[in-house]
Parts: sequence; C-alpha cells; structure tokens
Amino acid sequence: MTNVGVIGGGLIGASWAAIFSKSGFNVYVYDSHPTVFETYIKRVKLFLEELKSIDKDINIEESLDRISTNVSIEELCSKADYIQESAPEILSVKQELFARLDNLSPEHVVIGSSSSAMPISKITQNLKGQHRCIIAHPANPPHLIPCVEICPGPNTSEKTIEKAKEIFNNSGSSIVNVKKEVDGFILNRLQGALLNEAMRLYSKGYANSDEIDATIRDGLGLRWAFMGPFETIDLNAPGGIRDYMSRYGSIYTEMAKNQTEIPDWSDKMGEKLEIERRKILPENQLEGRAKKRNLLLKSLRKVKIENGEV
Ligand SMILES: NC(=O)c1ccc[n+]([C@@H]2O[C@H](COP(=O)([O-])OP(=O)(O)OC[C@H]3O[C@@H](n4cnc5c(N)ncnc54)[C@H](O)[C@@H]3O)[C@@H](O)[C@H]2O)c1
Repeated sequence: MTNVGVIGGGLIGASWAAIFSKSGFNVYVYDSHPTVFETYIKRVKLFLEELKSIDKDINIEESLDRISTNVSIEELCSKADYIQESAPEILSVKQELFARLDNLSPEHVVIGSSSSAMPISKITQNLKGQHRCIIAHPANPPHLIPCVEICPGPNTSEKTIEKAKEIFNNSGSSIVNVKKEVDGFILNRLQGALLNEAMRLYSKGYANSDEIDATIRDGLGLRWAFMGPFETIDLNAPGGIRDYMSRYGSIYTEMAKNQTEIPDWSDKMGEKLEIERRKILPENQLEGRAKKRNLLLKSLRKVKIENGEV
C-alpha cells in the first residue's frame, strides 16, 4: 500500500497527513470546504516539525511533497489504497460520506473513521461494503500521541482488520485492538469515567476546577504517562495486583455505589466552569497553552523513547 486518502482537512486530518506522509505514503486530501487548504500545509508543516524533534530521520520537505491537497473525492477514491475519514462528529455527515466512499472506491480499499465515539456499524448500516469499514480512532494530537484504537464492527472482515493494522503499524502507531463494539471505545470510556467523576466532585463543591486538575497534573497523570491502571496497581502493593485488590478492593467497591449518578453537563455548569477557567487561562492564551502542551508532549515522547518505551 502506498497511497492514503484523508477525508477532512481539520485538526485531525492535518495530523494524519503528517503521520502518513512522514511514513512514506502518498497522501490525497479532500475537504468539502476548500478554504481550509489556505492554512492546511502550514499546519501540517508545523506537525512535521514537531514529529522531527522526536524522530530526526524525518525529511520534512520530502514528506510535504508526498501530499496532494484539495483533490476531488472522486480522484481521492481512484488513487487511495486506504482511506481515513476525519469529518465532523455528526452521524448523518459520516453516514453520507461512507456511502459515497463505498460507491466510489474500488473493492479492495479499506475505509477507516477517526470517530471519537460512534461504532462503525452505526455509520455503515445498510452499506454494501460494511466488511471493509472500520474505526481507527486516534487521540489528539495524533502525531504526538501514538495510540490508535482499531475497532471493527460485527460485519468487518478479518482481512480489513489486518490491513488497517498494517497501515498503522507502518505509521509508528501503538495499536489497541478493541474486540467488541462499544460507544466511546476504550479511550473515551476511560476519559469519560474520569471526566464524569470530576464533574460530580466539582458540581457538589468538593474542590475547585484547578484543584481537581492538579490531582491529575501533579499527581496521577505523572504515572499515567508510562503505565495504565492495571500496571499501576500491580506495583502499588508488595504482592502485586492480586494483593492490591484484596487490600483495597473494598474501597473502590464502596465508592462505586455512589458514582452512578448522572453528572451535571448542563449549559449552566458550563458557564460556571468557563468563568473559573478563563480566570486561570484567559481566552487569548488558549492557543499558546495548546502549543506548550505539544512542546511538553514532544519532550515526554523523547524521554520515553530514550528509556526504551513507545
Ligand atoms: N479533536 C479531537 O480531539 C479528536 C480526537 C480524536 C478523534 N477526533 C475525531 O476526528 C474527527 C474530526 O475532528 P476534528 O477535530 O479534526 O474536526 P475539525 O472540525 O477540525 O475538522 C473537520 C473537517 O471536516 C471538514 N468537513 C465537514 N464536512 C465534510 C464533508 N462532508 N466531507 C469532507 N470534509 C468535511 C471540515 O471542513 C473540517 O475541515 C471527528 O470525528 C472527531 O470526533 C477528534
């Protein structure tokens, strides 16, 4: 496979173009709003520069030369061996796009979606080519966070799963195989569990938003950069995970009893949180903070790689 089609030239679509082009694929990008291409290459170049600080072998100019922007969806479908859809998270938009892609692309082509939470069977119901469609869900920004969840639907073929895995292995991703369809896959279910609990604690007045953030930023998050919840508890009791579970399992069982309430995601709560956040980070500093986030992510990736981790 040498040619990849990217549908959608937004934040995620630009990051995919950087990842696929630095990995040696020719990339064809389509967006229904051609004005996005006025700034697209500038953004991809920045992402490639960020990637190069992790992998010095990347050739930015050669990578950019492999990208063709503002191609028609027909041309993209005639060239691509693999297509990655990254249009907005709106079911009807994705359903319509997948129907077009299934119609326009040759049968051997695998079609992946970056959807954050929608199972592929919902996007592709009634499509002839359901067997060649799959979720390939990244975390943001994909070029700095290597995790990609590969989530087949009940009608996705084994061949499609293998082809998608080959593409993302060849792109340097860290693949998570999701065995069964579930809304939010694994990543956003874990993120959702944490966010929902943060929202409950905040709305009930246990701590302000920055203090809740600090427990992750200056606490749990430091460990989470290189180990997940199961490995964490495996190291947190002298006898490993089973010892941890027998010592502390009752604490989590008790807490789970009052963690079932639906948290307050109302607009009123959003307004309150926004006022609190804008005092800490004024609106005109949001972009600068996102740049700093990427800078720290790059440094973290470098430290991990230097220490033999992914
Ligand atoms: N931003 C994130 O944190 C994140 C993380 C992981 C996955 N995702 C998923 O990636 C997808 C894209 O998200 P994003 O953040 O890049 O959004 P975005 O709004 O930055 O980009 C979406 C792009 O799609 C284009 N578009 C709209 N309708 C289209 C159509 N019918 N055909 C082709 N292009 C169309 C828009 O012009 C825009 O350029 C979503 O499904 C989102 O859930 C986002």
